[in-house]
Amino acid sequence: MENKINCCSNPELGLKLNKEYWGNQYLAGEIGWDLGKVSPPIQAYIDTLENKKLRILIPGAGNSYEAEYLLAQGFENVTVLDYAKPITDKLKEKFKENSSICIVCDDFFNHVGEYDLILEQTFFCALLPELRSKYVHKMHELLALNGQIVGVMFNREFDKQGPPFGGNKEEYITLFNPLFKVHKLEPCYNSVAPRMGSEVFVRFSKKNENE
Ligand SMILES: C[S@@+](CC[C@H](N)C(=O)[O-])C[C@H]1O[C@@H](n2cnc3c(N)ncnc32)[C@H](O)[C@@H]1O
Repeated sequence: MENKINCCSNPELGLKLNKEYWGNQYLAGEIGWDLGKVSPPIQAYIDTLENKKLRILIPGAGNSYEAEYLLAQGFENVTVLDYAKPITDKLKEKFKENSSICIVCDDFFNHVGEYDLILEQTFFCALLPELRSKYVHKMHELLALNGQIVGVMFNREFDKQGPPFGGNKEEYITLFNPLFKVHKLEPCYNSVAPRMGSEVFVRFSKKNENE
């Protein structure tokens, strides 16, 4: 049975953003979002981390160059999650010898786990905007005490109806502020060239009950 959240019909969009849609994009090689390498702002952030035992989740991971980079740096507890089976099958094969990574084929909104750090890289913008509040709540649920979301988000609109769906700093503050402390939300100085000037680097930490 199709999950209603999973299967997002948008009449304006004329397509269903579900696991079949994304799976077919991978099968057809229609992956215009794919950087082919770790996102430089995320790479620079990873380079500041010392605790290799952090429990790290990458949701909507796609080809997961960030995970590959983390493993190369010696991180021991990396989970990548995507609901498009063609890509998780590929990742399972690629990382089959590596016990530091877990590949999960599931809907983000159904995922159960506890993480210290969740990396955001073109997952938020792939979701229909009406799911944004649900995304924020789910991120909060998946993070441990003092857990953080770190990554990049678009700070622009797109002419064409998405994905990707655009957004801006003010919207993100309104969205995340009830459940997260905003430590960083500023223009990226180290985006890949095609995204230069259109991304913000974000670091949000989970607010605890009394905050
Ligand atoms: C635009 S792609 C980005 C992939 C990757 N982060 C990257 O930057 O290359 C969005 C990804 O999110 C996945 N996705 C979308 N909605 C999802 C959901 N509800 N649960 C799990 N994965 C989802 C898609 O299958 C796709 O791989």
